[in-house]
Amino acid sequence: MVELRAVATDTDFEAWRRVRLAVLPNERAATVAEMRAQLEVEPDRVFLLALQDADVVGSGLVGRSSVGGAGVHPRVLPDRRRRGVGRVLLDALEEHARRQGYRDAVSLVEDDESHAWAVRRGYAEVQRQVEQVRELAPDEPAPPPRADVEVVSIADRPELLRDVFPVAEQGYADLATFRPVTVTLEEWLREEATIPGGSLVALAGGEVVGYTGLIHDAGSPERAEDGLLVVRRDWRGRGLAMYLKRAKLAWAATHGIRRVVTWTQEANVSMRAVNERLGYVEGTVSRTMRRDLRR
Ligand SMILES: CC(C)(COP(=O)(O)OP(=O)(O)OC[C@H]1O[C@@H](n2cnc3c(N)ncnc32)[C@H](O)[C@@H]1OP(=O)(O)O)[C@@H](O)C(=O)NCCC(=O)NCCS
Repeated sequence: MVELRAVATDTDFEAWRRVRLAVLPNERAATVAEMRAQLEVEPDRVFLLALQDADVVGSGLVGRSSVGGAGVHPRVLPDRRRRGVGRVLLDALEEHARRQGYRDAVSLVEDDESHAWAVRRGYAEVQRQVEQVRELAPDEPAPPPRADVEVVSIADRPELLRDVFPVAEQGYADLATFRPVTVTLEEWLREEATIPGGSLVALAGGEVVGYTGLIHDAGSPERAEDGLLVVRRDWRGRGLAMYLKRAKLAWAATHGIRRVVTWTQEANVSMRAVNERLGYVEGTVSRTMRRDLRR
């Protein structure tokens, strides 16, 4: 018997987070406070726990996906698989999504077994993301200053994060995703630049012309994730992206960060090449799977 329960208390959220960490041990997981904050801006988001004989064996999440449709995420502890828990979770998540009016569902899979499982349930691959990892030495060299831009951090000028948003929207529009990415201003202000000192803005004549973000990993503070990297369209082709990233890596190295992780769409060949030139090494591949919920 699989019992599903909606997450309510902090203890439930912690149990939910433990499943996520067990299933995806190398990835950043939102803290309880961050999950509660997500619920405030998206009250329809549903977090589920799956229990068998009073043990938590799996978790589920359904909410708005940044590529449109519902994001559905069933996860089962590795030693509790092949007992029907995943099926019960997925059915419940899809049912929530249908009731909320979503017409399709998207999910992410990393291992081949989960991929095959999703395919048997009507999902098809629509896009791939590649993880790239940069190990940092304590003495990463900072690039020499440029005369054409002034670089300031979000820690120095917190109000700038809002001014970066219109440029960030240009960046989102140019991502190689199967459907356009939509990030709201609220999500942007809440989820970007969670390491404000390492999130850098390039200004020219007082205007935002570039940005690179750095995101905190509460579970492993020596590890951080790259946020968005974007250069305003009329400023592209002048080496500004590389410059900002180098400055950020140097900042991270002197602030106790030993590893920076980034996720890039497989089709975004130019971004992957920029990262490779900066010393990033490719890791896990994550596949985005989609299913039409009306069929
Ligand atoms: C994908 C995932 C959720 C599946 O979880 P699960 O609990 O093993 O799923 P189920 O038990 O419902 O299904 C697994 C298989 O076991 C079979 N099974 C179910 N109960 C069984 C039992 N009592 N005895 C033997 N086999 C059983 C199912 O029929 C199914 O086989 P099928 O795909 O050929 O139909 C899990 O592997 C996981 O957490 N993966 C990582 C996260 C992820 O990628 N999620 C998927 C996103 S779409």
